[in-house]
Amino acid sequence: MSAPLTNLETLAIQGGTPVREKLLPYGRQSLDDADLQAVVEVLKSDWLTTGPKVDEFEERFAEWVGARHAISFSSGTSALHGAAFAAGLRPGDEVITTPMTFCATANCILYQGAIPVFVDVSADTLNLDPREISKKRCFRTSSRLKAIIVVDYAGHPAALDEVGEFAKQHGALLIEDACHALGAEYRGKRVGSIADMTVFSFHPVKHLTTGEGGMVTANDATLAETLRRFRNHGISSDARQRQATGQWYYEMVALGFNYRLTDIACALGLSQLKKLSTNLARRREIAAYYAAAFRSVPGLILPSVRAEADPAWHLYPIRLDLASLTGDRGQIFRALRAENIGVNVHYIPVHLHPYYRERFGHGEGECPVAEAAYERLISLPMFPGMTNADVGDVVRAVSKVISHYAK
Ligand SMILES: Cc1ncc(COP(=O)(O)O)c(C=O)c1O
Repeated sequence: MSAPLTNLETLAIQGGTPVREKLLPYGRQSLDDADLQAVVEVLKSDWLTTGPKVDEFEERFAEWVGARHAISFSSGTSALHGAAFAAGLRPGDEVITTPMTFCATANCILYQGAIPVFVDVSADTLNLDPREISKKRCFRTSSRLKAIIVVDYAGHPAALDEVGEFAKQHGALLIEDACHALGAEYRGKRVGSIADMTVFSFHPVKHLTTGEGGMVTANDATLAETLRRFRNHGISSDARQRQATGQWYYEMVALGFNYRLTDIACALGLSQLKKLSTNLARRREIAAYYAAAFRSVPGLILPSVRAEADPAWHLYPIRLDLASLTGDRGQIFRALRAENIGVNVHYIPVHLHPYYRERFGHGEGECPVAEAAYERLISLPMFPGMTNADVGDVVRAVSKVISHYAK
């Protein structure tokens, strides 16, 4: 990897030569011939929808994260919906969650008619701040709290012990949105084995892809059975009952959905699972390289890692120290894009989206730490297929743009 540039080349946005000729995306899937072969084999088999690959993928996935049960879903979003349903959320219930996430985390609360209560994040990890929870008025005066949904932002596990303790004290379930964090560890345990329910996404930019897809892991057998039913129209999957009454018989016992993941997708997931540890190691290597390269670049605040955490680095979000720069996030973002670095921003705080403002009256000032972070955040490219030259290009482009805007 080449050394960072610190000179004042003309920025591409001002007519200079871009650091790269072709745009480097912020994330992308890593597929190989074995993945393609696994899918082709299923296409030639008798099963396209729910067949043997679904059970096999769920079993292997549960083993990998160290959970008793894994229930596949058609997306991370439907998996979140399943978790919200299994937590028993009903209209009027309250659920604490973080604003620093993709809107699906909070939307699943609304799907059940429950009320999301946004609690601000810690300034270092941008994960839900346990100290902020008890400050929320509603939890001091009501007992409608049913669940807390934390997010492992960028792949750094949330404060699972502290939040989990609060949830337990209030008779609420802890749901972990680990869509960024497959492979992350918290106090030496993989996420997926810790919270009451943990939700994963298999979107192509994530650690493992099935195209669209998701999973919920849980240790509790009742939660697992509720999740299984929910993703299959609410139909009971009790095999003993079927045997007693005839193979044709089934009962719909709850209102569910068709949120099933196909055998085609699960075959891809199984094949991808074999490469997960290698891909995770590469993400960690890239994060370490970025950290070393940017440590001495003034104007940048790098993601911090707490002692109890080993992040999975879905994203590498840097924050701009605006006080030491002459440009704002928008200018620096556009300048990096002009250098053909596919930077992105994660996230617009959920409570600031028009739907949440207009429907629930949310607005600025509710979560000052998340809102200030949003003004400063830029996600750099991070995916295992990045070559050393790609990583070097990102470092060169960031150094070039930041040195241009340095005070
Ligand atoms: C934190 C988080 N939660 C949930 C989701 C939804 O996952 P999916 O796109 O698989 O529906 C995403 C997707 O990007 C996410 O980043």
